[in-house]
Amino acid sequence: MKAVVYNKKGSPEKLIYCDVDKPVPTDNEVLVKIHAVSVNAADYRSMKMGLIPKRRIFGADIAGKVELAGENITQFKVGDEVMGDLAKFGFGGFAQYVTAPEKALIIKPAKISFEEGAALPMAALTALQAIRDKGNIRKGQKVLIVGSAGGVGTFAVQLAKYFDTEVTGVCGSNNALQTSSLGADYVVDYTKEDFTKSNMRYNLIMAVNGGYPIFAYKKILTPNGVYVMVGGSIPQIFKSLLFGWLLSFGSKKMRTVSAKANKKDLEFLTKLVEDGKIKPVIDRRYALDKTADAMRYLSEGHARGKVIISIE
Ligand SMILES: NC(=O)c1ccc[n+]([C@@H]2O[C@H](COP(=O)([O-])OP(=O)(O)OC[C@H]3O[C@@H](n4cnc5c(N)ncnc54)[C@H](OP(=O)(O)O)[C@@H]3O)[C@@H](O)[C@H]2O)c1
Repeated sequence: MKAVVYNKKGSPEKLIYCDVDKPVPTDNEVLVKIHAVSVNAADYRSMKMGLIPKRRIFGADIAGKVELAGENITQFKVGDEVMGDLAKFGFGGFAQYVTAPEKALIIKPAKISFEEGAALPMAALTALQAIRDKGNIRKGQKVLIVGSAGGVGTFAVQLAKYFDTEVTGVCGSNNALQTSSLGADYVVDYTKEDFTKSNMRYNLIMAVNGGYPIFAYKKILTPNGVYVMVGGSIPQIFKSLLFGWLLSFGSKKMRTVSAKANKKDLEFLTKLVEDGKIKPVIDRRYALDKTADAMRYLSEGHARGKVIISIE
């Protein structure tokens, strides 16, 4: 099969499009013919940190069709359309085929395309777990989403609206229209305005991107407000992990989310897409042999929604 394989010595390109053996499922796995896979920060950050999957193939969020089912498989049969996040199961999505255990996958509803199915898992789950589980979002709250235009941010804006809150999205000039079209009540263009210096106060702040000081975030929280650090610059992430608990003494809480893939949440999100409550925003599509370009584009930090690899 064709795959994009990490080659440490590859120069200048470390992601090489080539032929590799088609994987063989164990009794507890299915073989999925991949139709679409999305690119996540987890792919390029793992690569930069030298965390290389065993098969040296990145790509976690896949959608495709079951081609073979191992003997112990009970939930899926050949021909089922499935989707899921394989980050905890060795990645392997930048390829024509991948093997996966049942617990990594759910059925992809026919109403959702393969590309939409691949766009959903990691980014939407992160947004959901950040605002619902860590942020304890409640109807009527004022919610600030910093980094509203990327993979996680576009889901966060829509989910915060789904939970019936007043949403302010922070993004660059190019994305202001997109953020408001996703339902944000207010948009702050960070190239023109410093939201950390405004008089506005928020019940919930979700920091998806940017490198703003954690102390500045604390200042613009309401009493009992919650800040949830999702991502951003590496120093930003370390500072949140180091100081978050310390700054949480008192009524304002400073938290960090580490999203965990689970079927229940993914099914919940899939239903929201099916019902037209949220929609995956797809920025660009690449062919499998252009995966290195897709990774480069995403790592520049200005994707407008999700970046998808479509596989014939
Ligand atoms: N904690 C977890 O479990 C978890 C899970 C998944 C992802 N993450 C992290 O979450 C972060 C976002 O992931 P993603 O997939 O959404 O990334 P992404 O799609 O690459 O995010 C790109 C977006 O970030 C925006 N952005 C860049 N600089 C900004 C700034 N200074 N202020 C506001 N927005 C800015 C860009 O908008 P403009 O072009 O308008 O600037 C762009 O739309 C990453 O750091 C990732 O590692 C964490």
